[in-house]
Amino acid sequence: MERKKLFTQVDGLLHGGDYNPEQWLDRPDILEKDIKYMKDAHINTVTMGVFSWAVHEPTEGNINFDWLAEIMDRLYENGIYTVLATPTGARPAWLDEKYPSAMRCNEMGVRNHHGVRHNHCMQSPEFREKVRIMDSKLAERFAGHPGLLMWHISNELGGYCYCDTCRKKFQEWLADRYDHDIEKLNKAWWTTFWSHKFNSFDQIDPPYANGENCVLGLNLDWKRFSTWSATDFMRFEIDTLRSAGAKEPTTTNFMEMFYDYDYHYMKDFIDVISWDNYPEMHNNWQTDADHLLERSFNHALFRSMKRDKPFMMMESAPGLVNWRPFNKYRRPDMHELISMQAVATGSDTVQYFQIRKSRGSSEQWHGAVIDHIGTNDTRVFKEVAKLGEDLESISEVAGTLSDNKVAIIFDWDNRWAIDDAWALAKETKKFDETCMNIYNVFMKLGVEPDIISSDMDWSGYKIICAPMLYVLHDGVGEKIADFVKNGGQFMSTYFTGYVNKDLLANLGGFPGDGLSEVFGLRSEEIDTLYPEDRNSISIIDRAGKPSHSIEVRDYQELLRDVTADVLARYNGDYVAGKPAITRNNYGDGRAYYVACRTKQEDIEFIYREMLEHAHIAYTKLPAGIEKHTRYAEDCAYDFYLNCTTEEIVVPNVTGTDLITKDKLAGSLSLKGYQIAVIRR
Ligand code: GAL
Repeated sequence: MERKKLFTQVDGLLHGGDYNPEQWLDRPDILEKDIKYMKDAHINTVTMGVFSWAVHEPTEGNINFDWLAEIMDRLYENGIYTVLATPTGARPAWLDEKYPSAMRCNEMGVRNHHGVRHNHCMQSPEFREKVRIMDSKLAERFAGHPGLLMWHISNELGGYCYCDTCRKKFQEWLADRYDHDIEKLNKAWWTTFWSHKFNSFDQIDPPYANGENCVLGLNLDWKRFSTWSATDFMRFEIDTLRSAGAKEPTTTNFMEMFYDYDYHYMKDFIDVISWDNYPEMHNNWQTDADHLLERSFNHALFRSMKRDKPFMMMESAPGLVNWRPFNKYRRPDMHELISMQAVATGSDTVQYFQIRKSRGSSEQWHGAVIDHIGTNDTRVFKEVAKLGEDLESISEVAGTLSDNKVAIIFDWDNRWAIDDAWALAKETKKFDETCMNIYNVFMKLGVEPDIISSDMDWSGYKIICAPMLYVLHDGVGEKIADFVKNGGQFMSTYFTGYVNKDLLANLGGFPGDGLSEVFGLRSEEIDTLYPEDRNSISIIDRAGKPSHSIEVRDYQELLRDVTADVLARYNGDYVAGKPAITRNNYGDGRAYYVACRTKQEDIEFIYREMLEHAHIAYTKLPAGIEKHTRYAEDCAYDFYLNCTTEEIVVPNVTGTDLITKDKLAGSLSLKGYQIAVIRR
């Protein structure tokens, strides 16, 4: 595949991160040292200006960027590029004092006090005007600077605002969505239930904590609106930069499987996907390998948002974070493993929060490349510098892409709707976990899935898994039918196709929207088990006899009208003898339905079967090894990560290790936490 470089100025991978020299303007000695240390650490980029508003504009209208320009120039002279942020993630006190509408209102509609960050009202006209002035001036001054790589819009956009301006905007957004016809909204939200009918759009409130929050359609539309509102704010910032002459690419830093906004909606309005990766390593509930797999799922989610270019790991922590319940230091070599995992999964950058540790305030104990001790020989510094060197050794992977044939559907609407549904059991819905568990099964078979939305382009995929796809967007039933008809392998589970995009139950049996025919069955009941309840199913072997049995927990559906082949039947409870796993030949493909919750590894045979039908080669990897592949025009790069502390030998590896320069023709031996990048 053709390499797609993110930036014309840089040949290889980016290494660097958030840098806040504004905290040290009275210490030129420190700033001087920083540049030397950055070079020692093979750092070639910094992100500046993220929280610099109060320095940019200490009093209203008194804007001065000279400090920033000087530092940017100095960095550029030293081969260090800048990602420049708009400073809207936090506001100076004068701004909130004069324009209180910039401060968000909480879910009771009460205005916040000044403080903290990431808490602006995205719709406040006064705040927007201040942002417009700030961003235009930034672009006028820095657009086209040879050291400027890209624009970083605000920081970690998030949260909801319940102020009157947002209430009004919500009503306008609803009017647009429902064609200015309140009866359409009433129908979609099924408001005759509990007499919740509205006569006009201006009667509708956001779902205040002490107001109307039981109309599920309203709750979901509020989340959709809030996604729109944040995107609208982000677009406003981008448009402002562009009108003031900025031509560089834009990004905003997303967060891991962030719940507030639908990133699949936001992704289309920025040029490059970036995200902030803060794993909780060496924790007391998971192995490192399992925790890293969760990270890998996140990377895959962000990578799959724009499959035609690499993404960026915009932030990660050198050493440790300081805001988890327990803030444990990364053990030796873990830094390289976490960082290389990002590159393995498709990131062209390893960036940190932060280059130099702040001396005071809430993040003073958060990991940094340069610690309070102020030297370049700390354990963390040396690990960062070693990684910097290794990133240079593998620089040829920059711009290479993944080419995966398996995808898992992960819709934000669906997550929200499942959690808000008065059904199943609150603690065991576990949609995210279910998707991750399926991902893990493929990963352990050495096959990397993409994580996509039901609305994205599915071309190129041969296998799609859509567990618990409770909400079916318009047209998705048909899309699934076409996918299978044309030879695709599709897998779904209990709690699929229950409602349409408005959360109205599909009538005529689940899964709805034509899917009963695709799967060859209908689901009549979904039964919720208590955490200690167990049932089991027996897999039917080729001779039609029950073979081994598999444990069922949490959920079991009662199926009827089954015309599909039955692969497993329930053993106990009131569903005993009924079909539990089915496979339906439909057109040229197959549709699998798993009607109950099992451990995913217990039903690995389904995934293997799908891979075989799809002619995708797989090999079970040694436990604790992760493998990812990036493709170039003429070669491929296999990344092997040993996510354990033990030495592991991986069989059947051939090619050249870009870090050790070893030529491999047989097996690869990796020490604990070691990684290898093999060109083949
Ligand atoms: C990120 C944030 C940074 C910094 C970092 C600390 O979420 O964007 O500004 O706070 O966390 O881990």
